[in-house]
Amino acid sequence: MRKIIIKAIPGDGVGIEVLGESLRVLSTLEQCHAGARFEVDTLDWGCGYYLRHGSMMPPDGLEVLKDCDSILLGAIGFPGVPDHVSVGGLLLPIRREFDQYVNIRPVKLLDGLDSPLKLTGGHAIDFVVLRENSEGEYCGRGSIRNEGGPDEAVVQESWFTRTGVSRIIRYAFEYAAAQDLGSVVSATKSNALNYSMVYWDKIFDEIRHEYPQIHARSIYVDALAGFFVLKPHEFEVVVASNLFGDILTDLGSALLGSIGISPSANINPEKRYPSMFEPIHGSAPDIAGTGVANPVGMIWSMAMMLKHLELPEMEQLLMQALGDVLGTRQARTPDLGGTSTTKEVVDEVCTRIEVLARP
Ligand code: IPM
Ligand code: MN
Repeated sequence: MRKIIIKAIPGDGVGIEVLGESLRVLSTLEQCHAGARFEVDTLDWGCGYYLRHGSMMPPDGLEVLKDCDSILLGAIGFPGVPDHVSVGGLLLPIRREFDQYVNIRPVKLLDGLDSPLKLTGGHAIDFVVLRENSEGEYCGRGSIRNEGGPDEAVVQESWFTRTGVSRIIRYAFEYAAAQDLGSVVSATKSNALNYSMVYWDKIFDEIRHEYPQIHARSIYVDALAGFFVLKPHEFEVVVASNLFGDILTDLGSALLGSIGISPSANINPEKRYPSMFEPIHGSAPDIAGTGVANPVGMIWSMAMMLKHLELPEMEQLLMQALGDVLGTRQARTPDLGGTSTTKEVVDEVCTRIEVLARP
């Protein structure tokens, strides 16, 4: 039987709860479906580790991760460690060093989810944001000039390389073509960002001509945020830079009723390195430790992992179970208006997997 080696990094805050509980989904799946066996190695990296050791992960952390099949991440960041230090010491190095240059973030209103929007005319919300995940505004470069003086200034660089921009835009068109989707929207801001986004648009225009069957449009990101609210049903594939994709996908998750729902897959499409799967939400220190964080984003991210690992039957089994639990509204955490705990929601998903898998 295929053995899948998973490195699990619960991280900080609610990440510890959602990943800790959700791992039971994998054991249930392997008991119910002979597709694969999961060997999970849980690593205690994160802000607690930082306070003990002075770094977010061991110096050979990337080496430890490099040969696994997939990485699962809960969330990173906690008061006591500046967020840019925690994120810059674990999350971003993994995305960057493992060349996980595509961040797939579905925005799909599953049955049983209540959008805060008034959706009329039977319109659905079902699109994906493909976020550039290796460079752009997140390249991490910059400098402080004349520190402490009257002319003090900081420079935060954005790097947009031909390789980096082309590959994410091409991925978006290939994604649309493979799924028979008719349109790709590019999030831009070339009216104000006169180098980076003008360049982004230029490459988008070059590549769109290779896909004449796909309707391609560039929309200013500010207007696009408005359209997400006013006409989300018009979107199929949205391609965005690192920062724009980040902001748009919290909005996307809010359209589904909670930040706790949405999954994400940090993908190295060439599979030269492991990919990483994590909910889009943060560590939520305000509710950390109370046991009521929504595990849906984490569980859905696990389904994306199964898809990436080419275990489609397991993926479908998990998504069916998750959809059924949401659809019947039996177990839901407070962010969705319910009273269930994280554990209770995961219990329901596991039970549903068992029922669905019964011959
Ligand atoms: C996300 C998160 C991260 C990001 C933070 C924690 C740096 O918000 O995965 O969306 O901005 O990428
Ligand atoms: Mn984010």
